[in-house]
Amino acid sequence: MRWALTFSNDLTTQYFMKFFIDTANLAQIAEAKELGILDGVTTNPSLMAKEGITGKSNIYKHYKKICDLVEGDVSAEVISTDYNGMIKEGKELAMIAENIIVKVPMIKDGVKAISSFTEMEISTNCTLVFSAGQAILAAKAGATYVSPFIGRIDDINWTGMQLITDIFEVYSMQGFDTEILAASIRNGLHIVDAAKAGADVVTCPLDAILSLLKHPLTDLGLQKFLEDHAKAAK
Ligand code: G3P
Repeated sequence: MRWALTFSNDLTTQYFMKFFIDTANLAQIAEAKELGILDGVTTNPSLMAKEGITGKSNIYKHYKKICDLVEGDVSAEVISTDYNGMIKEGKELAMIAENIIVKVPMIKDGVKAISSFTEMEISTNCTLVFSAGQAILAAKAGATYVSPFIGRIDDINWTGMQLITDIFEVYSMQGFDTEILAASIRNGLHIVDAAKAGADVVTCPLDAILSLLKHPLTDLGLQKFLEDHAKAAK
């Protein structure tokens, strides 16, 4: 919100939270794209494995397919955990397509690698973030996105969404322009709460996106409209 503010001529403020889909499944990405609301894709090694994609060459080919399918940012995660390995891998990933965002874990060498990628003008997504302190480090290193994992914090009976609120407050106060990408989103309520807490992006499974459509009164109302229309036509 902080840096996506735009001011139209009548001085109204506009802001649109971006929707990313959190999957490596091409059919699900295509389905979300057809809704016309898809701004990007996030993947991780677990999601790639879930699709049965193994081996560097196949994984890179799969990233290319995803990048060809969507215009927005596509996060592709490094497997290396040492600085030199991450730099080598990140450069290779960045070569796949212009919309690749190199996803780097929040570890010491990861922060160092993000700083170097920032100097190289390679966009990054700092992943596995579970505290505001980690988010500060990611922003200081120049990460394009920071990914706080909401659902996994809820899983240990803490309040995941509070982390979005905290990071939003810190980033706003300090003027960091790293975008807050709410990750590990599990349901529609998470999406709405992330929007209220100031997330710049939510990344979620297709089911969570589709759950936003659902309301029993919508179904009942539509049924009544169609019944009344049919009656009047008799
Ligand atoms: O974007 C991170 C996300 O994939 C983690 O989600 O549901 O595995 O905690 P989850």
